[in-house]
Amino acid sequence: MSDAAETAAGTLEPQPEPEPEPESRAAGVARVLVSRSAIVTRTIELARELDREYQTAPPLMIGVLTGAVIFMADLMRAMTIPVEIDFMAVSSYGAATKSSGVVRILKDLNHEIEGRRVLIVEDIVDSGLTLSYLMDVLEHRNPIDIRVVALLLKDKQPLPPVRVDLVGFTIPDEFVVGYGLDYAGRYRNLPYVAVLDPTLIGEG
Ligand code: IMP
Repeated sequence: MSDAAETAAGTLEPQPEPEPEPESRAAGVARVLVSRSAIVTRTIELARELDREYQTAPPLMIGVLTGAVIFMADLMRAMTIPVEIDFMAVSSYGAATKSSGVVRILKDLNHEIEGRRVLIVEDIVDSGLTLSYLMDVLEHRNPIDIRVVALLLKDKQPLPPVRVDLVGFTIPDEFVVGYGLDYAGRYRNLPYVAVLDPTLIGEG
């Protein structure tokens, strides 16, 4: 370990925030749709609403793997009430950019949810098929209630078959990546939400 790293790890002195990278740094990104700073601001607003909503009975936050991981990590750290977390994995699109409508559980919860308040944390609601399937599965386990917070909701018809209680941003009906969302496993680490160059996803 270098001297600098030892000092940083040993003293716990506040470290300066790293300089933000230029938003256009990633190859293949056509344009940034939701900037990092917009996400930070909106996440804090959502956290305040959730703090109020769950003041008397803190929820079990359920992140839907893998895309919701980054949003969930930021959202829960902006909340001040005590929360517990768990994760579920359901089958995703793989390398396709449209939902097949076929959903199955790949990883189930570690917690029982009977008699608890549940907050599903989603990265994006597109057709709503994934969410509708999840709600159905979880409702059969008799929680007190299930609410949904999604970072992104696509503005499309028909409307999703489920209620999304809190939405970060409503976006146009385009395929997006970044801030947890992938295309063929890539781009999840972008700190913003972006639209890819259409030639990359075979739609150009
Ligand atoms: P839905 O079932 O069509 O609502 O899609 C749900 C899941 O598909 C989301 O949780 C994402 O993992 C994935 N998904 C939907 N739209 C996009 C997108 O534009 N980019 C990346 N992943 C997406």
